[in-house]
Amino acid sequence: MRALKDRNVNVIYSVKSMNIILRAEKEIDKDEIFKVNQLAFNRNAEANLVNLIRDSDAEYFSCVALFRDKIIAHIMYSTVYIDNVPAGLGLAPVAVLPEYQNRGIGTKLIKFTLNELKKCNLIVVLGDDKFYSRFGFKPASNFGLKSTYDVPEQYFMAISSGNSKWQNKIVNYHPVFKTLDE
Ligand SMILES: CC(C)(COP(=O)(O)OP(=O)(O)OC[C@H]1O[C@@H](n2cnc3c(N)ncnc32)[C@H](O)[C@@H]1OP(=O)(O)O)[C@@H](O)C(=O)NCCC(=O)NCCS
Repeated sequence: MRALKDRNVNVIYSVKSMNIILRAEKEIDKDEIFKVNQLAFNRNAEANLVNLIRDSDAEYFSCVALFRDKIIAHIMYSTVYIDNVPAGLGLAPVAVLPEYQNRGIGTKLIKFTLNELKKCNLIVVLGDDKFYSRFGFKPASNFGLKSTYDVPEQYFMAISSGNSKWQNKIVNYHPVFKTLDE
């Protein structure tokens, strides 16, 4: 899966008459991606996390949305583990610059990347169930999976394309995610 970050995906979408380019991140995007996460979350934790994921041994898939050559949204997926073995990808973080939110850009970016990752056996996300269920995420408990985070069950969701069945297994994100709790 290491090659995920090198995937040369590039798509143009029209969102509310804005022409948006969706593509995999490039080396030169790093500072802009940091800024997008910093502004969207109004803190540094997620922006720092993105850099830590890149520098870690996790596999990752990172994509951006551009409008007029400027990065206005970012999404990242990175390895999650079951019993200390890589088992799939976790979606986090996803961020749209505040002034571009609620225009369908986050939705396009999530759909586009999930489509790129459709061969992945397991994708998990921790977040609003109403928002993520529209992309096909179901409660992870349906697949016998639970989160390490102490959140209501419906907020930990999964897409699993394979026939894998787990029994009461805990999904762990890479240790760099612990920086979010600090
Ligand atoms: C969450 C986020 C990525 C969505 O992207 P977006 O481009 O604003 O969203 P879209 O326009 O595609 O979709 C809008 C829908 O998302 C919902 N939404 C917006 N922010 C949300 C959030 N933090 N959690 C859940 N749902 C959210 C809106 O209520 C709206 O719902 P509706 O379609 O029923 O009206 C973006 O708002 C954002 O960057 N928020 C701040 C960072 C964040 O919270 N990231 C997600 C957690 S990792």
